[in-house]
Amino acid sequence: MAASGEPGRQWQEEVAAVVVVGSCMTDLVSLTSRLPKTGETIHGHKFFIGFGGKGANQCVQAARLGAKTSMVCKVGKDSFGNDYIENLKQNDISTEFAYQTQDAATGTASIIVNNEVKTLFNPAPAVADLDPRFYTLSDVFCCNETEAEILTGLKVHSPADATRAALLLKGKGCHVVIITLGAEGCVMLSKTEPMPKHIPTEKVKAVDTTGAGDSFVGALAFYLAYYPNLPLEEMLRRSNFIAAVSVQATGTQSSYPYKKDLPRDLF
Ligand SMILES: Nc1ncnc2c1ncn2[C@@H]1O[C@H](COP(=O)(O)OP(=O)(O)OP(=O)(O)O)[C@@H](O)[C@H]1O
Ligand SMILES: *[C@@H]1O[C@H](CO)[C@@H](O)[C@H](O)[C@H]1NC(C)=O
Repeated sequence: MAASGEPGRQWQEEVAAVVVVGSCMTDLVSLTSRLPKTGETIHGHKFFIGFGGKGANQCVQAARLGAKTSMVCKVGKDSFGNDYIENLKQNDISTEFAYQTQDAATGTASIIVNNEVKTLFNPAPAVADLDPRFYTLSDVFCCNETEAEILTGLKVHSPADATRAALLLKGKGCHVVIITLGAEGCVMLSKTEPMPKHIPTEKVKAVDTTGAGDSFVGALAFYLAYYPNLPLEEMLRRSNFIAAVSVQATGTQSSYPYKKDLPRDLF
């Protein structure tokens, strides 16, 4: 962030409350009646380009709920990269730390700095030999069923399974563990409460669940930043609700709701 202390500047208004370090991806989506076999060419009936990438998705959801956000990322210096920077701006996300590079294949890295800010870590995509510091240094560790399985070696298909996995992750040093369970909502476990808790979500007619996890994480980041005194369980109830809205429309970022379209009691 820019240096503070300059007279006459309202830094409070400029500094982002939610900073996401993560990926920005251009989704090239072909709708087909079936998957092609190896080497086969088939006709699709629709094609579209969308904005994706887990980091940017989460940032967009937090921004649409009203969070002051900044995206730390690197995209290519090409038309997709230019369009992506424009998409971030359209969503009112600061692009001060959104870089562009001439090298086509740019890797992404998640960096956690233990600097007195609240960190929410989403181990996606998960690797079994995750650096153990990720467990101990992040304030909130949030993953889905697949990621929980990879990280713990346990099968995770139900709230009861997630409870066991959360206890194991806590044993690795996590302060707060959240495991999302699709239509089953999520399970939470925190250092202050000894027992894991299942937070169910209401039944909705799911149309497209792509990006539901990122909607959930983005919403949670919003509540952690703007309603830090809300009980965690209530933050998760509200994040469940917002992610459930996102599964009722198609697309990833295109399905993420704005604050103005959500019930007032979420804010
Ligand atoms: N069918 C559904 N009905 C209601 N809520 C849902 C449904 N699917 C997902 N959600 C909500 O979204 C959250 C995240 O879903 P999920 O655990 O499937 O994440 P994910 O696997 O990372 O998602 P994806 O990979 O599809 O983006 C859930 O905790 C829940 O709040
Ligand atoms: C969980 O997230 C990963 C990305 O890390 C994704 O590949 C996987 O399909 C997700 N699992 C579920 C059950 O949606």
